[in-house]
Amino acid sequence: MYNFSMQIPTRIHFGKGAVSHLPELANYGKKVLLVYGGGSIKKNGIYDAAMALLKEAELEVHELSGVEPNPRIQTVRRGVEICKSEGIDMLLAIGGGSTIDCSKVIAAGAKYEGDAWDLVLDASKIREALPIFDILTLSATGTEMDPYAVISDLTKNEKWGTGAPCMIPTMSILDPEYTYSVSKKQTAAGTADMMSHTMENYFSMENADCQKFMAEGLLRTMIKNGPVALENPDNYDARANLMWAATHAINGIVGDGCSPAWCVHPMEHELSAFYDITHGEGLAILTPAWMEHILSEKTLPHFVEFAKNVWGLTGDDDWALAHAGIDALKKFFFETMGIPANLRAVGITDDKNFDIMAQKASKATGHAYVALTKEDIVEIFKAAF
Ligand code: NZQ
Ligand code: ZN
Repeated sequence: MYNFSMQIPTRIHFGKGAVSHLPELANYGKKVLLVYGGGSIKKNGIYDAAMALLKEAELEVHELSGVEPNPRIQTVRRGVEICKSEGIDMLLAIGGGSTIDCSKVIAAGAKYEGDAWDLVLDASKIREALPIFDILTLSATGTEMDPYAVISDLTKNEKWGTGAPCMIPTMSILDPEYTYSVSKKQTAAGTADMMSHTMENYFSMENADCQKFMAEGLLRTMIKNGPVALENPDNYDARANLMWAATHAINGIVGDGCSPAWCVHPMEHELSAFYDITHGEGLAILTPAWMEHILSEKTLPHFVEFAKNVWGLTGDDDWALAHAGIDALKKFFFETMGIPANLRAVGITDDKNFDIMAQKASKATGHAYVALTKEDIVEIFKAAF
């Protein structure tokens, strides 16, 4: 197990009616910047519920709407501008990962003299941030209890993750009922994303039994509940289990003590940077191709455990078991969850950018548990094509 330091200061209010805790924001100041996306929160009633409580708490609410999936730096800049001109005290993000990530960088940008893009390119420049609160509406990214944010500048085909302790949300409201309205496509993509976070950690571990067995439990939770939520969007227990599993996949509980360098995420971020695809779909497409690429004598024991402990497979032939585990994952993503099965199916119709995308992704993958070179990544893209 690698060394680590851990502190997760987020207060989680979980369950039906958890939004009633919103007036606690009044302890942090007067002026709130409410940030949300393309309008789903107005259709499903969360906006009205939140506004009524904010009004009751006598908070002054300013709004930034229209945060895009794969949030843009241009939107972050608009938010920073409002914070600075209005003297905003805190951020309230209502939405999925994109809205919350955007709010995190706005919160840091509000305390920074220069352009917020500097904070995306260089996390060491993030020294302080306004307090961040959120109401999560989509189970996927785990941003509700982690220090990270992923922001794009699609005019330059750039999408980068950044992070700092001051960007961990102060309080997150997790009401599984608020995810009932999530579409089948986003439910499937979200399940793939949380599984990817868990698997990135799972395949970066050495002698970390505690994290390993927790990761297996999280994966089994996701594999059990993802299909139930897909079929029955209003199934409370399925939505609740997905929500809490997603939070733990990336809050450090499972990842601390593992190699910090992930592989599939840097590769997927390039797909989104160039083609603006849905994050979870890109991960689902790349993960089996990546697994087949890194399966070796060294990693075989990990894949055997994956097949046995996650998928419940049995057999005496380790190589056959390892392949069967990867096949089970493919079947789950592409048949059970209905996720597009290759890059062509998400609109990537030629390989002209594979080289440049691989070059950029390889900056992060060189230090992974199974390191990937630019050439490895091109092969993975081709296998996923
Ligand atoms: O914009 P609105 O109208 O809210 O609609 C959204 C959006 O169209 C919709 N949606 C969200 N909640 C809903 C809902 N629709 C109906 N009912 C609800 N309750 O879903 C669509 C996708 O939303 P988005 O926020 O983009 O999805 P997600 O939560 O998957 O976030 C993806 C972003 O997070 C980043 C990704 O790269 C991507 O940019 N990630 C952030 C991480 C982090 N901060 O730790 C880690 C992840 O690995 C990931 O990279
Ligand atoms: Zn992810």
